Amino acid sequence: MTGIHLLTCYSFWMILLVNLFSAEKVVSTTYTVGDEEEWNTGVNYLSWSQKYNFSVGDVLAFNYVKGQHNVVEVVEETYRSCDASSGVLATYNSGMDQVKLTQAGNYWFICNISGHCLGGMKFGIVVREGNATKASVSTPPPPTANGVHTPAKARAWAFLAAALGILLWV
Ligand SMILES: *[C@@H]1O[C@H](CO)[C@@H](O)[C@H](O)[C@H]1NC(C)=O
Ligand SMILES: *[C@@H]1O[C@H](CO)[C@@H](O)[C@H](O)[C@H]1NC(C)=O
Ligand SMILES: *[C@@H]1O[C@H](CO)[C@@H](O)[C@H](O)[C@H]1NC(C)=O
Repeated sequence: MTGIHLLTCYSFWMILLVNLFSAEKVVSTTYTVGDEEEWNTGVNYLSWSQKYNFSVGDVLAFNYVKGQHNVVEVVEETYRSCDASSGVLATYNSGMDQVKLTQAGNYWFICNISGHCLGGMKFGIVVREGNATKASVSTPPPPTANGVHTPAKARAWAFLAAALGILLWV
């Protein structure tokens, strides 16, 4: 009985530890454009784009039926005119496009299937420096694996110590 109890306890703390260590790597969020409605006609992308705060490192996921839509990253003027004969920065058409927001600033996206942009398949977002990302961008890489992640490691070791304490105490 005690053996099983110890094993359960041990597994619990190991899972907690693994989560602690992996938590420090999470600096980006993936946002599905349009949420459940995805990338389609008849969706209000203005209100979708205002629901979230986007940070450098985040990813926009455009999901749609390949061929029915596409994704064109454009300059603001093209976003306003819906005329993608110029001002095009990137084009995606896989149906499952992942667009990483690599730098702070304004991003503009439209669907370039005839009539879709004018119909509302367009939005702009402001991407800000994320705090976690900012730290890793502006700080030169540390000479060793230690250093930058010390607080998280210290926390993990504190938990490990606590776990051992409980194991010995039980
Ligand atoms: C976005 O940031 C603003 C200002 O910092 C804050 O008031 C708002 O709650 C944030 N929205 C979300 C969805 O995090
Ligand atoms: C957008 O569509 C127009 C009209 O079909 C076409 O002329 C233009 O090349 C397209 N632009 C892109 C980036 O696909
Ligand atoms: C991000 O940084 C700003 C200023 O550098 C600070 O005021 C804010 O509290 C930070 N936000 C988080 C979530 O750490």
